[in-house]
Amino acid sequence: MPTVLVTGGAGFIGSNFVRHLLATDPTVAVVNFDALTYAGNLANLADLAGHPRYTFIKGDVTDRDHVRAALQRGVTDIIHFAAESHVDRSIQDSGPFVRTNVIGTQILLDAAREFKVNKYVQVSTDEVYGSLGATGFFTEETPLHPNSPYSASKAGADLLVQAYQHTFGLPAVITRCSNNYGPYQFPEKLIPLFVTNLLNDIPVPVYGDGQQVRDWIHVLDHCRGVEAAWRNGRPGEVYNFGGRCEMPNLELTKLLIRLLGKPESLIRYVEDRLGHDRRYAIDCAKAERELGWAPQVSFDAGLAETIAWYQTNAAWVATIKNKDYMSYYEKQYGSKL
Ligand code: NAD
Ligand code: DAU
Repeated sequence: MPTVLVTGGAGFIGSNFVRHLLATDPTVAVVNFDALTYAGNLANLADLAGHPRYTFIKGDVTDRDHVRAALQRGVTDIIHFAAESHVDRSIQDSGPFVRTNVIGTQILLDAAREFKVNKYVQVSTDEVYGSLGATGFFTEETPLHPNSPYSASKAGADLLVQAYQHTFGLPAVITRCSNNYGPYQFPEKLIPLFVTNLLNDIPVPVYGDGQQVRDWIHVLDHCRGVEAAWRNGRPGEVYNFGGRCEMPNLELTKLLIRLLGKPESLIRYVEDRLGHDRRYAIDCAKAERELGWAPQVSFDAGLAETIAWYQTNAAWVATIKNKDYMSYYEKQYGSKL
């Protein structure tokens, strides 16, 4: 039975991935290795309690001995989601980003070599390509030009993966995806933050002029892409995934406001994010051609479902928007809202 070590499986995308894989492939076992940082939450996988093919290990990817012990459980493959993932936090303090995203990846790569895994998947991001002007798309050939401490740490990790593939023949693939949305996303990212604020009539902070463009993809489409890269991706290759759904932040904000029946007076224009990337847009033709993958969830349907999920799961939100969360949020915005 393939036994996949999924790192970061208690986070937003990792938890959706673990649930997806166990539900769609009865021949696979999952070992979820997650440090449970502020972003990790076992409640995201509460429905898998007692599942015969699921094991959870609380562990840090920078802990070499713990990673090796986890791999000794018959692990055949590694899919590496664990990361510090929020750009704003990387601007406040880049230390944890370098530690987890760079050093953690190096430790995992060493373990992957030692245990001779069949496939290693590095879940990366389109942010490693930097920022686009008004036109054009990121392809897999676009040079790396990371602009934030977050994206620099992800690019550093990607380069290590490529070096291990080249030097040691590690059977590794890299995936680079655009902005995800969907259930279980930590409410510090744009869509869940704005939805949960608006539901409670709390203002929403739009950075700068709100004309930055992001390419939105439903988390399950990303999960299907990572799965396809794991099963069929060619070692040494990079695969981009995107939703073919570009939208300026302000337009998205007004759409959320309309869908929730709230007034536009809840918009607050706040100071721009430092070094803010202007536009991301993904060309995912290679994944479509080589992996037979395509995004399936329309933005209208996915967004409506996501809003409904946050409405139905107010208790999940309440456990997260706790004292620690608020102190971070207040530190970020002060009295600007
Ligand atoms: P997330 O912040 O929701 O979850 C990250 C998970 O990693 C958490 O469960 C956390 O506990 C765990 N983790 C953090 N540090 C760890 C450590 N040292 N050891 C073990 N576990 C640790 O992140 P996400 O949005 O689900 O992103 C998952 C991956 O996908 C990341 O690698 C991210 O760079 C990448 N990605 C995210 C997006 C997006 O839009 N969210 C898009 C493209 C790529
Ligand atoms: O592109 C993929 C990346 O998408 C992932 O690698 C990251 O892990 C993920 O966090 C995401 O990065 P962004 O910085 O694009 O996502 P975020 O939700 O933080 O912001 C989306 C856009 O909205 C961005 O232009 C900043 C803006 N924004 C964000 C927040 C949280 C605001 O205007 N106000 C806000 O309060």
